[in-house]
Amino acid sequence: MRADLRTDGALTTGTGGAALRLKDVGMRFSQPNNGRTLTALEGIDLDIEPGEFVAVVGPSGCGKTTLLRLIAAMMPPTSGTIGVGDGTAAGARTGFVFQQASLYPWRTVLRNVAFGTELRARTPHRRDRSRKAVRAKAQELIELVGLEGFEDYYPHQISGGMQQRANLARALAIDPQLLLMDEPFSALDAQTREELQIELQRIAVQAGTTTVFVTHDIGEAIYLADRVVVLSGRPGRVREVLACPTPRPRPLKYQVSDEFTDLRNTVWNLVHSK
Ligand SMILES: Nc1ncnc2c1ncn2[C@@H]1O[C@H](COP(=O)(O)OP(=O)(O)OP(=O)(O)O)[C@@H](O)[C@H]1O
Ligand SMILES: [Mg+2]
Repeated sequence: MRADLRTDGALTTGTGGAALRLKDVGMRFSQPNNGRTLTALEGIDLDIEPGEFVAVVGPSGCGKTTLLRLIAAMMPPTSGTIGVGDGTAAGARTGFVFQQASLYPWRTVLRNVAFGTELRARTPHRRDRSRKAVRAKAQELIELVGLEGFEDYYPHQISGGMQQRANLARALAIDPQLLLMDEPFSALDAQTREELQIELQRIAVQAGTTTVFVTHDIGEAIYLADRVVVLSGRPGRVREVLACPTPRPRPLKYQVSDEFTDLRNTVWNLVHSK
């Protein structure tokens, strides 16, 4: 299951994404100050289909970032199971884009984008991937996210929006089965955010990647997602899952449609009800 690049730089659709199944997932942390346990998430059941784009909203501290970290297998849940495709979360190819751009400051844009692929190229079963192929792929992804001409720039020499584009390209470079995004556009100005929302839609549809996108912005969630998962306040539980039926990618004017407005009102009420 791969999103391969064609010679014209477009990602071929295909069976890019994997299914994601969360069964009764819970996460408890011990609190650093008193050693008592804090339940961040409880009883999360979610079935996400290959290629689906799911947005997650909920109050601050309800466990959204924790949920992404569990799906990325950065830590195991304290209860329940997470399956990706036919395997576990730990065995999946997962791309992660954080709220703050997290590029390596000492690597150029090109070498940041190539980073994940370089690592994979070093694993024994991927020795076939030459340095040249890695760079060619990074170059194509840079074009895909609109960063051509900035390959040799360092992160501090490009804008915040460009850094997030580079992060997205880096996440896509490993042919992810799952793309996890944690408020990736929240630090950006409204215009750059809108541009990146449009680009992300195009890229996610082309690559067919399964995407879980965390945001505080209800409108952003509805604009981008096939389904919006609303979590309750801590401990985070699934309060509601709402379908946004209009096919993706959507034109900007979707944001003034009746469907969008009705969904936004519904989600707003859910997020703000106790
Ligand atoms: N490693 C950790 N150790 C202890 N507690 C943690 C840890 N990580 C998260 N928590 C706690 O879990 C809860 C959920 O945190 P999380 O960061 O997932 O929330 P969030 O929904 O992403 O919040 P925000 O919207 O503000 O980003 C918080 O109370 C947090 O303090
Ligand atoms: Mg968070």
